[in-house]
Amino acid sequence: MNFSNILIYWYLQNNRELPWRKSKNPYFVWLSEIMLQQTRVAQGMAYYLKFTDTFPTVFDLANAEESTVLKMWQGLGYYSRARNLHFTAKHIANDLNGVFPSTYKELIKLKGIGDYTASAIASICFNEPNAVVDGNVYRVLSRYFGIKTAINSSAGIKEFKVLAQTLLDTSQSGTYNQAIMDFGALHCKPQNPLCETCPFADSCVAFEKNLTKELPVKEKK
Ligand code: ADE
Repeated sequence: MNFSNILIYWYLQNNRELPWRKSKNPYFVWLSEIMLQQTRVAQGMAYYLKFTDTFPTVFDLANAEESTVLKMWQGLGYYSRARNLHFTAKHIANDLNGVFPSTYKELIKLKGIGDYTASAIASICFNEPNAVVDGNVYRVLSRYFGIKTAINSSAGIKEFKVLAQTLLDTSQSGTYNQAIMDFGALHCKPQNPLCETCPFADSCVAFEKNLTKELPVKEKK
């Protein structure tokens, strides 16, 4: 089995039941992905449920007062995320007839949507073959391949994006992307990774060379 087969096999047995995984509605997936930036799944969950309950469609979010949206965001921090969310909801509702863009190329034009979020929405909702690279992906790939390039250097950002894209199982991009994020969050953890029971134990460079504590490398800026 190759890297992505092993990963997806692991995911089928270990995936988290998260509320936004119940649907491929891009509005819901977008909300969840914005909320989960710089926020842990356990904390983001309550906010996600409150938001989707109060604003079940992009029109509901667009029609809300900004102060209401910001108030509901309280505790999540990084308020620019909430402002951009509201701005983009209005744009989709008013200028795009409520139809969510369905390609990476269109998604990345939206305010508050960068490479990560565009890749996540395009792959999860529309099966477009775009690999996500978040903190989990940096950790899993740097350890598995023993890559010491700093993940916050421009060379590192490029190298990991190319590698992630090469490994992507393009027949199930959304599943693959969520699998690597869950694997990083639950198994290949920052501290105390579960190497003894890891499906990659016989091919992981960091495990073989005892480098898990050293990887990923981050440059001091
Ligand atoms: N963290 C952010 N988005 C995620 C997702 N879709 N699956 C797992 N972890 C995530």
